[in-house]
Amino acid sequence: MAKRLSVSTILLLLLLLLCIQISLSEKLQSSQIETLLRVQSLLDFPSILSSWNRKTSFCTLEPSSFVTVVCYGNNLTQLHISGEKTAPKLPQDFSIDSLVKTLVKLPSLKVLTLVSLGLWGPLPRKIERLSSLEMLNISSNFLYDNIPREISSLTNLQGIILDDNMFSGQLPDIFESFPALNALSLKNNSFNGSLPKSLSKLSGLRVVNLANNQFSGSIPDLKGLKNLQELYLENNSFGPDFPRHNNKMVTLVLRNNKFRSGIPEEISTYYQLEKLDISWNRFMGPLPMSLLSLPSINYLNIAQNKFTGILSENIACNDALIFVDLSSNLLSGDLPDCLESKSNVHYEGNCLNMGGENSQHENSYCRNEALAAGVITFRKNKDQTRKAIILAACIAGGLLVFTLLILLVLLLFKRGYTKKRLVAQPPRVISEKASTGYASKLLMDARYISQSMKLGALGIPAYRTFTLEELEMATNKFASSAFMGKGSQGQMYRGQLNDGSLVAIRCLKLKENQPTEYLMPHIELISKLRHRHLVSSIGHCLEYYLEDSSVSRLFLVFEYVPNGTLRSWISAGRARRRLTWLQRIAASIGIAKGIQFLHAGFTPGIFSNNLRITDILIDRNLAAKISSYNLPLLTENIGQVALGGSIKSKDGDLRIEREDKMDIYDFGVILLEMLMGVQIKTRSELNVLRNQVQGTLTMDEVARKSTVAEDISNTCSDESLKTMMEICSRCLLKDPSMRPSIEDVIWNLQFAAQVQDAWQGGGESRISSTGSSPASPTQLSKQRFTIH
Ligand SMILES: *[C@@H]1O[C@H](CO)[C@@H](O)[C@H](O)[C@H]1NC(C)=O
Ligand SMILES: *[C@@H]1O[C@H](CO)[C@@H](O)[C@H](O)[C@H]1NC(C)=O
Ligand SMILES: *[C@@H]1O[C@H](CO)[C@@H](O)[C@H](O)[C@H]1NC(C)=O
Ligand SMILES: *[C@@H]1O[C@H](CO)[C@@H](O)[C@H](O)[C@H]1NC(C)=O
Ligand SMILES: *[C@@H]1O[C@H](CO)[C@@H](O)[C@H](O)[C@H]1NC(C)=O
Repeated sequence: MAKRLSVSTILLLLLLLLCIQISLSEKLQSSQIETLLRVQSLLDFPSILSSWNRKTSFCTLEPSSFVTVVCYGNNLTQLHISGEKTAPKLPQDFSIDSLVKTLVKLPSLKVLTLVSLGLWGPLPRKIERLSSLEMLNISSNFLYDNIPREISSLTNLQGIILDDNMFSGQLPDIFESFPALNALSLKNNSFNGSLPKSLSKLSGLRVVNLANNQFSGSIPDLKGLKNLQELYLENNSFGPDFPRHNNKMVTLVLRNNKFRSGIPEEISTYYQLEKLDISWNRFMGPLPMSLLSLPSINYLNIAQNKFTGILSENIACNDALIFVDLSSNLLSGDLPDCLESKSNVHYEGNCLNMGGENSQHENSYCRNEALAAGVITFRKNKDQTRKAIILAACIAGGLLVFTLLILLVLLLFKRGYTKKRLVAQPPRVISEKASTGYASKLLMDARYISQSMKLGALGIPAYRTFTLEELEMATNKFASSAFMGKGSQGQMYRGQLNDGSLVAIRCLKLKENQPTEYLMPHIELISKLRHRHLVSSIGHCLEYYLEDSSVSRLFLVFEYVPNGTLRSWISAGRARRRLTWLQRIAASIGIAKGIQFLHAGFTPGIFSNNLRITDILIDRNLAAKISSYNLPLLTENIGQVALGGSIKSKDGDLRIEREDKMDIYDFGVILLEMLMGVQIKTRSELNVLRNQVQGTLTMDEVARKSTVAEDISNTCSDESLKTMMEICSRCLLKDPSMRPSIEDVIWNLQFAAQVQDAWQGGGESRISSTGSSPASPTQLSKQRFTIH
């Protein structure tokens, strides 16, 4: 009995409490209740509001995806009403003006969502009276006409969402009025004209969606918008220049516009970029291969543009990529291996070597299209020219000073060296010390290379450390019979390792007290310098001073390339077998690919390699290999020792560009010698021959063929010859900025090879850069050769 009593008492108490609770809870001012009921009637009593009446306790309504009311005190602060997706237009007697006038009676209204309710009419000027408004979402209605300027009074706005309406006209230039704006979405309307400049002042902006309108013109500079992460411009007529914005972008969609510039270099610094869709534009110029390996990228669509460039199997890509569309561009080369395993990859309509897949065009198609689009043109810029020449002179001067310094250091060493006792340490100790921050950064940048190492297709043994004893044995204690020569990069010895393989060993004496920590990053980088067209490093050995265990000598072990220098294969008067015209083109493609790898295979690239024809070696398969390049170890020294402040203070990018063009010039000289078949030893010889080549470019076939080496003229097609001469003379232009890029060079060389190949045998067979693509019987019967 007592128990039952206590239970009912508790129930009673609870009930009382509940009543008190309700009476104390937020109760909307009655005027605001009236306002909501008026809204209900203006919206023609939609079914989702059917429960609203005078007795409704609005502030305690259970929020739903259709209706949510939020109160603060006895004021309404948020109103969300979202109808059926297919809501028809409200009847003729609906007045948007009355609706806004009514909403003004909710003085604390901060968030207003009126979506899919069939609203129609122009946005009234009275909207300015909703002065507390912070978020306006009136998507999926039938609102039309211009956005009234008066909206600029709503200075607290953080979001303006007008998607899926019929708004039109230009955007008023009022965005300075919204300092807090972080989302602007105008998707799927009929806005036109260009974007107002004031957009570039909205430093808080995070999302901008302007897709599906008729906007045109260029995008205002959005560089200052540090928080911008998502930019959707799909289906407009924006262009022609790639928009400027910060590099923290996460999503960038430019699909289906009129952009036609190239992609800026700095896209390789978009570390947060996850989605990039620039398809269906007229972008041209070389495709930055770094796009595929951006650290966050998972969606990449560049389809239907005019991007040029040569893909190769070695290109690295981000594992996270789930969609890649490269189709309908002007790309050639080979599909990167890392894409081949992925399912959602599209590449049809390019000029890739796909082993007979007929989804691809011939190389000549891409080249002609690129020419037609004006991609392969050479810019003239007088003003830059002068700077460039001065700069080039500085660099050349710097190199000279540097060489002298090195010689001096070497001399000083020779003296001090004999006094100290040397000992070779087991190399394991060193590699443990190797992981400095710098090194890991280099390793990260060298991703591209490690990828190519994994492929193991290079036929080069794995990189390892050697002991000094091993090297002494290989060279018979560095006997003079093993001595091959001496250059600015140390002495070279030929050696034979225990397993019988031949190697070339470069011996570098180092400055005193060179700490291992300083060397290791460089050595790690050198170990990654492996490419079919470089004489690649297969290992190293360090020799230490006993006193302070600083490094005294560094030995770099390289693969041995047995077939002599390129010069010995082309010069007239030599007894040896000579390269045919097609083999010469193949050799030049090889050299160019080697240069491309040095420049772009990793950062910082290796430039100013001072390439000479005698430094190009020919291997067993007649592939060309660059044997003497600017080893990073020395490159670093150049920066520190010789150039000092003078060049370093200059614009870094400019310097890279010029350096890259210095290699192009050297390449031109090599090409010239291959064309003319005579050794070029002096600058005046060079000038004479260059002028000859340039002179006959505009003449007829007979004139051209009479200029070049005799053994070429009998066997070459005029088109390939002319192309080669063109490349050569462009590479030798005085103005570095007018010389072609290495990509352009490779492109044109491949064209020349294809033309010549077709001329010799017929259309289908093409230069395979893999040598492994399946060959049809007809191909096999033709002369086939491989580069790489
Ligand atoms: C409700 O809004 C009115 C008018 O803006 C304001 O004076 C009042 O203080 C507000 N009440 C609360 C509890 O915020
Ligand atoms: C606008 O409101 C609708 C309905 O609540 C919502 O689905 C949509 O995501 C909102 N739009 C934006 C950009 O927030
Ligand atoms: C654009 O908005 C209209 C309504 O104004 C809608 O019917 C249409 O489906 C939308 N289109 C897209 C692509 O979202
Ligand atoms: C924008 O569209 C309106 C019609 O909605 C038209 O009168 C105006 O000329 C257009 N402006 C531009 C720049 O195309
Ligand atoms: C762009 O236009 C296409 C074709 O009209 C359409 O399928 C696509 O949905 C549009 N994109 C957007 C974001 O509305």
